[in-house]
Amino acid sequence: MIFPLLTLAALSTLLSHSAALPSPPGPPGPPGPPGTPPGTPPGPPGHGGPPGPSSNYVDWRNFRANGVNLGGWLVQEYFIDTTWWNANSGGASDEWGLCAHLGSQCGPVLERRYATWITRADIDKLATANINVLRIPTTYAAWTKLPGSQLYSGNQQKYLKDIATYAITKYNMHVIIDIHSLPGGVNGQGIGEADGHYGWFHNQTALSYSYKAVDSVISFIQSSGFPSHFTIAPINEPVDNHDPAAFGSPYALSDSAADYLTNFTKGVLQRVGNVNARIPVMLQDGFKGAHYFSPSFPATTNLVFDIHSYYFAGRNAYASNVTSYICTDATEAVSDTKFPVFIGEWAIEAQYNNTFAARQGLLAAGLYAFGKKTAGSAYWTAKVGAPSAYDVDGQGDRSDYWSYENFIDLGFFKNSKVASGYCK
Ligand SMILES: *[C@@H]1O[C@H](CO)[C@@H](O)[C@H](O)[C@H]1NC(C)=O
Ligand SMILES: *[C@@H]1O[C@H](CO)[C@@H](O)[C@H](O)[C@H]1NC(C)=O
Ligand SMILES: *[C@@H]1O[C@H](CO)[C@@H](O)[C@H](O)[C@H]1NC(C)=O
Ligand SMILES: *[C@@H]1O[C@H](CO)[C@@H](O)[C@H](O)[C@H]1NC(C)=O
Repeated sequence: MIFPLLTLAALSTLLSHSAALPSPPGPPGPPGPPGTPPGTPPGPPGHGGPPGPSSNYVDWRNFRANGVNLGGWLVQEYFIDTTWWNANSGGASDEWGLCAHLGSQCGPVLERRYATWITRADIDKLATANINVLRIPTTYAAWTKLPGSQLYSGNQQKYLKDIATYAITKYNMHVIIDIHSLPGGVNGQGIGEADGHYGWFHNQTALSYSYKAVDSVISFIQSSGFPSHFTIAPINEPVDNHDPAAFGSPYALSDSAADYLTNFTKGVLQRVGNVNARIPVMLQDGFKGAHYFSPSFPATTNLVFDIHSYYFAGRNAYASNVTSYICTDATEAVSDTKFPVFIGEWAIEAQYNNTFAARQGLLAAGLYAFGKKTAGSAYWTAKVGAPSAYDVDGQGDRSDYWSYENFIDLGFFKNSKVASGYCK
């Protein structure tokens, strides 16, 4: 279905109200998770009502996320704010090394980062684009102290609580707490603990500290005052293939590591279920697809898959044809209908020939396609420091393509017409 001449503003309004878009075609889903009262309306209330928090739990089968990630806030990443990074890292490539470099100053520098990179004003700004979901990456160190880890354990939870409470009470947003790194390292990248660390897999110590982190997230959610406003994502981009060229492909995660991940996820589901089975668990698929994992879980499981879709590397995408990749990705993401699927990260940068002029159309294409076929999406990321030391192929640098707040400043969600025609 095509919305002719739909404005991006109208599109984002549609997406932020779960009932407004039809469910993707396909067989009717299995019944909801145990504990969900029948007839509970999905998602936040629509227009008209006061924007106060809803106490209905999100049913990801019907919910439509119009989301962003709060990257570079509680997990540091070079590209998101290269100016800040260069001022603090001493040339380190990851947060682990940045903290090692800062020594006793790591705490103060990161506390300042938590207090300033994302504030309530950012939530106000995102709300103007009808954002209804915040996916918030955190390190495991926000939740548990691992002996020997260089990752900083400080007041992350306090900052998270303030921003989440504000977003929930003022705008009725839904918050996905993403444990982006796990002890030992989940993908060999800085964001997974440290560059070159793949030690999470098949390691009992790492596993027991991971469960401590998960338990701590569960308590945080239960005592938040708004447990219906959270989803827990216990892992991000699990990858055990040491060949960086495999990253992003189904070969990134071996069958044995995937089996380990399935067992971990069952452990997480059990822990969540023991406390509050209505809190959804979100499984990042390690680029294998929902179909790979879905047979391991009963259909009644309160589980949602998180798939990541990027175009800036490895796929030969040009700005002129990113749209076809988006449509294919959206369709493939839901090839298995046993569980709902959400696009937890994506960005419009193409590998080649980026142009400023193409941006708004690509953004609209992604919001449209993911919102129509999947449970919606979260852009990576809310904010990118400008200028960025990362140039893109074609016009501009990464701050021109990866920053949702920049798109808001450019007026992309206000009044310009978006051509129809994608995902025919
Ligand atoms: C298991 O993980 C822990 C925590 O990261 C680490 O300290 C330990 O060295 C790992 N053990 C092995 C055998 O790799
Ligand atoms: C996963 O759990 C099953 C059942 O407990 C066990 O047989 C299997 O060895 C586990 N797999 C891994 C990779 O730990
Ligand atoms: C996008 O365009 C490039 C260059 O023409 C081509 O190599 C690639 O296959 C195209 N991709 C799709 C999905 O059409
Ligand atoms: C990419 O840009 C180059 C140089 O501007 C141009 O010659 C080429 O036609 C463009 N290719 C595509 C597929 O957009």
